[in-house]
Formats: sequence, C-alpha cells, structure tokens
Amino acid sequence: MMPHVSGHEVCARLKADARTRPIPVIMVTALNSVEDKVEGLDVGADDFVSKPVNRVELLAKARSLLRAKALHDELARAKVELESKNEELKRLEQLKESLVQMIVHDLKNPLTAIMGNLDLVLQRPGGSAERDHERIARALASSRSMMRMILDMLDVGRMEENRLPLRLESFEIGCVLDECSSEVDGLLRASGVVLQRQGPESLPRARADRSLVGRIVANLLSNAIKHTPTGGTIALGADPEGAHLAVWVRDTGEGIPEEYQPLIFQKFGQLQLKKQGLTTDRGLGLAFCKLAAEAHGGSIVVDSTPGKGSTFRFTIPAEAEAAG
Ligand SMILES: Nc1ncnc2c1ncn2[C@@H]1O[C@H](COP(=O)(O)OP(=O)(O)OP(=O)(O)O)[C@@H](O)[C@H]1O
Ligand SMILES: [Mg+2]
Repeated sequence: MMPHVSGHEVCARLKADARTRPIPVIMVTALNSVEDKVEGLDVGADDFVSKPVNRVELLAKARSLLRAKALHDELARAKVELESKNEELKRLEQLKESLVQMIVHDLKNPLTAIMGNLDLVLQRPGGSAERDHERIARALASSRSMMRMILDMLDVGRMEENRLPLRLESFEIGCVLDECSSEVDGLLRASGVVLQRQGPESLPRARADRSLVGRIVANLLSNAIKHTPTGGTIALGADPEGAHLAVWVRDTGEGIPEEYQPLIFQKFGQLQLKKQGLTTDRGLGLAFCKLAAEAHGGSIVVDSTPGKGSTFRFTIPAEAEAAG
C-alpha cells in the first residue's frame, strides 16, 4: 500500500535483478485471499504473513528464510572458489606440459657439449694432452650441470610432497664452499669471471644435509656465472646469523629487475618470464634452492640491482654449541 509502486511491483523488480534476487522477500498482505498469494508467488515472493501480523510467526519465517539464504550464499562462494581452482589447475597443467618440453630441450644442450668434446678427443689422437685435458674437463662440467638439472627436478617434486628426508650431519660450511668453488673452475675460466672466497676464517659448524647445501651453492654459483659478463667478479662466503649460518653469493652481473624478483623462486615463474621472451633457461634451480633452504627451517632472499649485480643469501641451522 505504498504510493506509486505496489508491493508486488517492488518484489518483481528485486527478483528481476541478479544482484538483489537472493534477498528473501516476505509479503505482508492485508488480504488473506488466494489470488493475492498466487500473484505474490508469480513475482517471486518467498513467503507470506497476513495482517494482523503475528510477531512470533514473522520472526520464525524470517529466521527460516535467512538460514536458506546463508546456505545459498555459501554455495555461491564455493562455486566461485571451485571455478577459480579449476582455472588454476588448467593453467598449471599447461605450464607443466611446456615445462616437460623445455626440460627435454634443455637436457639436450649439455649432452651435445659432452658428445662434441669427447668426439674431438677421439678424432684427434695426435692432439696435445693439454687440449684433450681441457676438452674432457668441459665434458665433465657439462655432465655436472646435467646431473644438477636432473637432481633438482627430482628433488623439487619430492620436497613438495614432503618425501625428501634430510640427512642431517655436522660439517664445516667452509669445506663445502671450497668444494663448490673448485667444481666451477672450468666454467669460471671459460667465462672470464673471477671467484673470490670471503667470510670470516672461523665459523660455527653447520648442522644440515651436506649434499643438499652443496647443491644450493652449486645452483647459485652456476646462476652467478651465467649472468655475469667477462671481467666480472663473484664473491662467495658465509656469516653466522643467530642460530643460523648465512651463505651468500654476490655477483657483479646484469641483476634482476624488481618486478621479476618475486617470480624467480617459483617453480614455474621462469616459464612465465620466458613467455614474455625474457630468459632462455629452464628455471628450476632457485625453486630447488628455496625448498631446500626451507626444508632446513631456513630461507633464501635476493638483493639485486639491474646493471650492478645480485646477492643471493640463504640460511641453514648452525650446530648448537655444546653446553657447559
Ligand atoms: N645471479 C643472477 N643474476 C641475474 N639473474 C639471475 C641470477 N640468478 C638467477 N637469475 C634469474 O632468475 C632466473 C631463475 O633462476 P633459476 O636458477 O631458477 O633458473 P635457471 O638458471 O634459468 O635454470 P636452471 O634450472 O638451469 O637453474 C634465471 O633464469 C635468471 O633470469
Ligand atoms: Mg639456475
């Protein structure tokens, strides 16, 4: 009994608009006639009370409609959530497919280098021993990089499913850094980059999975070498940091634009960059480093300035000092 619009018209308009349609409508009708109710139902009313309004009845009906409305809302939310999860799954599936193609392609490069170098040694039996040695060293470096790629791939999968048991032991972090440095000797010489070992002489011992830590360092060194032009410098060292040891790799290379920094630790982040034509690598190395540091209760961060260089720093637990 409003001016200009009837109650039925208000209800019809509410129910015609998708935004207001879920609002429950109880019609209060003065006339207890069947026609009136039928008309109300036709325009979408959810329930009726007749005048004079019985307060208890009205409240009970309102409660019941609100319960139904809450269920409806929950269903709508779940639908939106499911749709977005489904989209995400589809996206990951596509990325996975391209990742597999890329991995196969990327494994071909070091293999080609290994075969080429070994072929050269075989085909020139008269060649100098020094050159042969150099070629075999190159083949070995390529084999190492291939092995690193394969291990990273396997471990990223295992760590994501929490299936990689850490083999914790106590060791000198300095020894691991020295070993990793000598493994990249050949690569450094080939690319004309100098590696400096830094950090304090004496450090607390690490308590971590020695081989995983070695592979984090190897990944960071390989990246630093790849992204540092000839004449550049890479520094490698470790510092105590509370109950942890922080290991860092600093280079004077090309750096990483700030907008890409959050992507580089993601398993598929590199693929997204690649789609924009930005890089050429497989991009699992840093995802591996992050998972491996986190599996130790540590973390990894990057500090990078384009044109100046990058510093990667990760933490692992130090051995607790013996009590007493
Ligand atoms: N020291 C660095 N300087 C500049 N850019 C870097 C450096 N380290 C990593 N990046 C960038 O981060 C990306 C991701 O590195 P990540 O190690 O995960 O993958 P990748 O080196 O491309 O491939 P791989 O799986 O063989 O390691 C690199 O492709 C590069 O764009
Ligand atoms: Mg890498």
